Amino acid sequence: MTSNSKYDVNPVATSLDDFMNDEQKRKQQKTKLSLADYRITFTVAGGVKYVELPEIFKECKVTILHDETRKSREGDNVDCYVECIVSEPIDDVIAQLNEFEEISNLKFEMIPVLKGPHPDTIAWFPRCLADLDHCSGNVILCGELLDADHPGFKDTEYRKRRSYFTEVALNYKYGDPIPRIEYTTEETETWCKVYSELMTLYPTHACKEQLVNLELLKKNCGFNGDNVPQLADVSAFLQKRTGFTLRPVAGFLSPRDFLAGLALKVFNCTQYMRHSSNPLYTPEPDVCHELLGHVPLFADPSFAQFSHELGLASLGASDADIKRLASCYLYTVEFGLCKEEGKIKAYGAGLLSCIAEMKHALMSPEKIKKFEPEVAANTESYVTSFQPIYFMSESLEQAKDKMRNFASSIEKPFKLKFDDVTNSIHVIENMVETTKKSDLIERVFIKTSSSDCDVIKTL
Ligand SMILES: [Fe+2]
Repeated sequence: MTSNSKYDVNPVATSLDDFMNDEQKRKQQKTKLSLADYRITFTVAGGVKYVELPEIFKECKVTILHDETRKSREGDNVDCYVECIVSEPIDDVIAQLNEFEEISNLKFEMIPVLKGPHPDTIAWFPRCLADLDHCSGNVILCGELLDADHPGFKDTEYRKRRSYFTEVALNYKYGDPIPRIEYTTEETETWCKVYSELMTLYPTHACKEQLVNLELLKKNCGFNGDNVPQLADVSAFLQKRTGFTLRPVAGFLSPRDFLAGLALKVFNCTQYMRHSSNPLYTPEPDVCHELLGHVPLFADPSFAQFSHELGLASLGASDADIKRLASCYLYTVEFGLCKEEGKIKAYGAGLLSCIAEMKHALMSPEKIKKFEPEVAANTESYVTSFQPIYFMSESLEQAKDKMRNFASSIEKPFKLKFDDVTNSIHVIENMVETTKKSDLIERVFIKTSSSDCDVIKTL
């Protein structure tokens, strides 16, 4: 252990106060975005096949929740009704839809837009995968902006390399393939050293879920001591196994943005490598931390579901509750300990990716407390030193159950429902679920008397 050992950190370790101004700016930028569902109705002229429309809507960052079509009363026209979430201001979406008239054989006769039942009084949060484009760029510290005590601070080449990774992440948009990185020899050697050290420690220090899923990653994603696995391969594997995907990120996200990604089963994942001068040290999450610390448990169906639920609990929560939730996340998902057959094991990614702290935590019984979410929620955490205490559960299952109970205690004026088919989040206003399409259409009837809505009335 060197004088600057430790140390792994995670995206939620930064104090909320440190970036409150950024958070406020972010909210301001999103004031034009709505939390509402929209209903767009239009008539396509000339018998154009409706199967072409989903692609057009995808181009416009519209997530379709439900759609219906029927032959129009006039000629070969087709009347269309689409319930959707939009990831841009609705006026921009309509403008984009209209632009398609000029480059395709489509002819939109009319596009009246109706707002859904969800009010805009709730703080905006992402509701579909495309919405994450508005979150993942809100990075705190990245690229060349390294702190003076960062191991790579005086390394010009390293800073250039970090700028490259920042550019890759910031340019990434929903739907893009995850860029494959050609890691340098130096970066690969760093990976190999970290990988080799951790593999010797896992059999005695890591929870069984880590060990089991690591074997799967070796078989399916090229986890080995010779090459850095590609996020694209890992993401494809995770999606098949647990529904989670990876998204490149440039650095620290705010707790709110990071947890929102989990709600949509997306793990924001760095791709850059820590500085080679000290392979066992990183002052920030890097690709070793993500792939060796987090990914094995994201490949565990039960733990992935748990992470997803934590994310859902964060959506629309107050700043105070986000802070409490983030602190609990840190003391479980990042630094959690559990018992296995009477022995202490690590399941937190911050421990599983940091040799020094993993050893330290398991050999410091005086610092280990029984996990209670309410206590963890109010316990200060540290970024550049070992945690002052660690929380241990009787089992990983017990930790998840306690966190679920804690998350369910967060009060909100609405309920959420995740749609596995569209990978989107339904906001259920006033705790009343309105999933029957006939009910939705009936509500539209009542709210509108404009002749613009004739096409709905025919449905
Ligand atoms: Fe982390």
